[in-house]
Amino acid sequence: MPLEKLCTTKDIPENGARKFNIRNYDIAVFNVKGEFYAIDRKCTHMKGNLAKGLVEGTSVKCPLHGAKFNLKTGELLTHPGTIAGWFKKAKNTIVYKTKVKNEELYVDLPQTVDE
Ligand code: FES
Repeated sequence: MPLEKLCTTKDIPENGARKFNIRNYDIAVFNVKGEFYAIDRKCTHMKGNLAKGLVEGTSVKCPLHGAKFNLKTGELLTHPGTIAGWFKKAKNTIVYKTKVKNEELYVDLPQTVDE
C-alpha cells in the first residue's frame, strides 16, 4: 500500500489533531504524546467530525453525540450518549497506519480501484 506524505510532525501539536483529504480518503490524524494515529474523520454514527473530538488518552470522543473510539484499533468504546444513538447505531471505525521518517509524517492508505 502506498505511503502518502501528510505533513511534518511539528504541524500537529501534542494532543492535537488535523484533518486531511487524500485521494478521497477523509482522515483525522492525532498526536498523542508524540505517537500519531490516523482514523476515518467521519464518525460512524452520523458523520461527526472526529478531528474536532475530545482526545482522552488514546481515544477520541465525537463532538456530536459522544461516541468514543479507540485511536489504535478503531474499536467503538462508547455508544452515542444521546437519544440520537437510539435511532442509529455507531460501529467500529477505520484505522490507517502512520509512519514517521525524518520528522515527516506519512499515512498508509489502501490503493483505490482506479490506481
Ligand atoms: S455523529 Fe458521532 S456520535 Fe453521533
